[in-house]
Amino acid sequence: MQPTDANPSGNVHGGAIMKLVDTAAAVVAQKHARCRVVTARIDSMSFLRPVYVGELVTVSAAVNEVGHTSLEVGVRVDAENLLTGEVRHVSSAYLVFVALDRAGRPRPVPPLIVETTEERRRMAEAKLRREHRLRGEEAVRTLRGSGVGRRQAMSPAPGRQALVIGHRGAAGSAPENTLVSFERAMEIGVDVVELDVHRSLDNHLVVIHDHTLDRTTNGTGLVCEKLVEELRALDAGGWRGAEFAGQRVVTLDEVLAWARGRTRIAIEIKNGPILYTGIEEQIIAALAEHSMTDAAIVVSFDHLSIRRIRELSSIVATGVLYAARPVDPVALATAAGADALLPQWAQLTEADIEAAHRAGLAVVPWTVNDSGIARRLLEIGVDGITSDCPEQLLPLLGEG
Ligand code: G3P
Ligand code: CA
Repeated sequence: MQPTDANPSGNVHGGAIMKLVDTAAAVVAQKHARCRVVTARIDSMSFLRPVYVGELVTVSAAVNEVGHTSLEVGVRVDAENLLTGEVRHVSSAYLVFVALDRAGRPRPVPPLIVETTEERRRMAEAKLRREHRLRGEEAVRTLRGSGVGRRQAMSPAPGRQALVIGHRGAAGSAPENTLVSFERAMEIGVDVVELDVHRSLDNHLVVIHDHTLDRTTNGTGLVCEKLVEELRALDAGGWRGAEFAGQRVVTLDEVLAWARGRTRIAIEIKNGPILYTGIEEQIIAALAEHSMTDAAIVVSFDHLSIRRIRELSSIVATGVLYAARPVDPVALATAAGADALLPQWAQLTEADIEAAHRAGLAVVPWTVNDSGIARRLLEIGVDGITSDCPEQLLPLLGEG
């Protein structure tokens, strides 16, 4: 180390060591990901012993664990006294990097092959660090009043009277649940993009409404009996006209990567001919992986699923869907720990809305494709509307 790296007593600045650590870790992360990476966090940086001017510093870095688009790199720093040959372990650090595509969006990283006992130990420790970090973040948010935070996920854009949710994207003018439909909803100016999730044979979450492929793709049969790569190869746009041919069945991961920093997402958990056991854990993990936990609303007709989501996360906003007139709609939401009532619009009364508001619940009916009905619902005080044609809602809200 050079005198310019040190304070007047000859001790090397921690910042100088940190720069070396960040550089070495980034090289290792980039070599694994084979794309540009950016430092997302320096989770811990311990300075165990001082480093002096004139010592030879060696930095060793290795990838410990990979997530969908992120990598944890562990770094060890040793300093050698060139006069005595004494080598000291002076610093350890753990850094998280995110892999980026050419447009600067997070992109998937290759899996990490672990072979030795040492590699397995490092991976297990990295997983523990990640778990603790997520728990810590969640605990802090809970402390700050997560109920308020969850309602934020359901607030309309500033100055807008009610939340506008694009149903299956903009299903009135584009093939539902495809990227072109989601882009169209964004162009219209929705607050939230709604989508439906099923699960492939190999346990990937895929975005499609029906439990069968026949209506909206050029495939046939059950979604849950196909591998994700078989589903991704299907055309999900051609049925709405030649201009949409080539739209694919997309995964939830792809949509979350697309949505991050752009829009909020309402994820509807569907069931197939079998229950998708454990789907709630997968959704919570995917939201955390894409940093979308506080930009999502998880909804379902399966209120047990919604209750499970709440058990798993106090941060994510939730809503209970229903298509009948329950005796006590507030009780439905309360039993599931939900933040919103999501009734089929014709089942809703003004009294229900008042009761929901007294209980601190939002009320967002679906699927409203008629301006007259939307106007009436806004008059009786709904907090938002889900529509295939969100462009029709904007004039009612004084926009467009
Ligand atoms: O947003 C609620 C609505 O999407 C529920 O019905 O059948 O369109 O998924 P469905
Ligand atoms: Ca839906």
